Amino acid sequence: MFLACHVMFERLLTSIILTVLCLGGVWALRSPDSSSVTLAADRVPLVTGDEPIAEIFTKAGCAVCHTIPGIAGANGRVGPPLLVGATGPVRLSDPSYRGHAQTVHQYVMESVLEPGVFVVPGYPAGTMPTWYGAKLSALALEKIAVYLEQQGAAAVR
Ligand code: HEC
Repeated sequence: MFLACHVMFERLLTSIILTVLCLGGVWALRSPDSSSVTLAADRVPLVTGDEPIAEIFTKAGCAVCHTIPGIAGANGRVGPPLLVGATGPVRLSDPSYRGHAQTVHQYVMESVLEPGVFVVPGYPAGTMPTWYGAKLSALALEKIAVYLEQQGAAAVR
């Protein structure tokens, strides 16, 4: 009788321990912060700039986080919609703007290469990737800036 109880108790204990270990494993495997969108550098190929403009934005992953007019599938909501033709001048005249851009074109380049220089109010800091300088060719960056500076401008006219 005592022995049977003992065996049952040990089995119970073993199954409790196994359950705890299992749950611990699941907990450890979950992504570090599943609520925020991140983009790993190794998932983004080099963008040469020879691609069509829509492909530049999708290949670089901008579309994951941004809504971009005229780019199919660019419906991201993590960052602001890229209506920089309208919002760029507002950023440049923001009293807290500490960057070096003089034009909207330069502001786009700065936002992509050094996103920490100015964080758009109301959006999360440290979310826009900081490694685009190593992924986008000068041509790709130029095409991005030319395209984006034209978006949203109609809204302020
Ligand atoms: C992982 C999400 C993410 C990705 C990918 C991303 N961005 Fe952003 N971006 C943000 C967030 C969040 C902000 C706003 C906070 C800030 O200013 O850093 C932002 C801000 C910007 C701004 C400033 C917009 C404004 O209204 O002033 C521009 C321009 C921009 N991103 C362009 C791009 C381009 C071009 C790409 C692709 C080459 C890209 N972003 C990829 C998240 C992202």
